[in-house]
Amino acid sequence: MKGRYVDKTRRIYNNAELAKKVMKEMYSEFSIAKDLVHPNIVEYKYFMKNYDEISQNHEFHIIMELMDGEDMEVYLKDQGRPYMIDRVAEIGAQLISGIRYLHQRKIIHQDLKPSNILFSGDYETVKLIDLGVSSKLDKTKATKQAGGTPRYMPPEQLDNKLTFKVDIWAFGCVMLQFCSGLRPFEGIENDLSICM
Ligand SMILES: Nc1ncnc2c1ncn2[C@@H]1O[C@H](COP(=O)(O)OP(=O)(O)O)[C@@H](O)[C@H]1O
Ligand SMILES: [Mg+2]
Repeated sequence: MKGRYVDKTRRIYNNAELAKKVMKEMYSEFSIAKDLVHPNIVEYKYFMKNYDEISQNHEFHIIMELMDGEDMEVYLKDQGRPYMIDRVAEIGAQLISGIRYLHQRKIIHQDLKPSNILFSGDYETVKLIDLGVSSKLDKTKATKQAGGTPRYMPPEQLDNKLTFKVDIWAFGCVMLQFCSGLRPFEGIENDLSICM
C-alpha cells in the first residue's frame, strides 16, 4: 500500500444491536467519502469489518490517509493563533475549496469544526475529515436528524433543518476561532445553553 494510513476503529463487545448501529454509521461515512478526490479532503481507502464469535467482538475499520500535523483544535492550543493575515487567508481558501467540492457533489459536511480539520506535517495544507454525520442530499430524508456539534451549528440546524448553508456558518465559526483562538460562545461550556 503506497502512502501512510490511519485506522479509525470502533470495537463493540457483546452487543449486536449497538454493533449494527455503529456499522451503519461507519459505513455511511465511508460510502459518502470513498470516491472524493480533492487536495483538501482526506482520502478514504478501505472499510473493513471483523467478528470474533468466541469473544463476540465486532470490529469496524475505516482506513484513510494519515495527516502528520495535529488537528486544528490541538494546533491552536499548542501553537496559538496565527499572526499573519496571509496565513489566515491561505488556510481559509483551502477550507472553502474543500467545502465547495463537497457541495458540488451534493454533500453537506454538517460537522465542520477545528477537531475535524487536520494539518499536514509542514502545516501548509489542511484537509477536512470526519464525514460521520454528513448527508448526501439525494439520500437525505426530511426526517433525518440534522446532527452536528451545537457550538458550530446555525439556528436552522439546531431546529433540524438542513441546507448547504450550515457548512458556511460553521466555516465562519472555524475562521473566527482560527483568527482569535476563541471558540464561538467562548465562556459557555454547556452545549444545551448554546441551543437555547
Ligand atoms: N487521517 C487522520 N490522520 C491523522 N489524525 C486523524 C485522522 N483522522 C482522525 N484523526 C484524529 O482523530 C480524531 C478523531 O477522528 P474523527 O474522524 O473526527 O472521529 P470522531 O468521529 O470520533 O470525531 C481527529 O480529531 C484527529 O485528531
Ligand atoms: Mg471528529
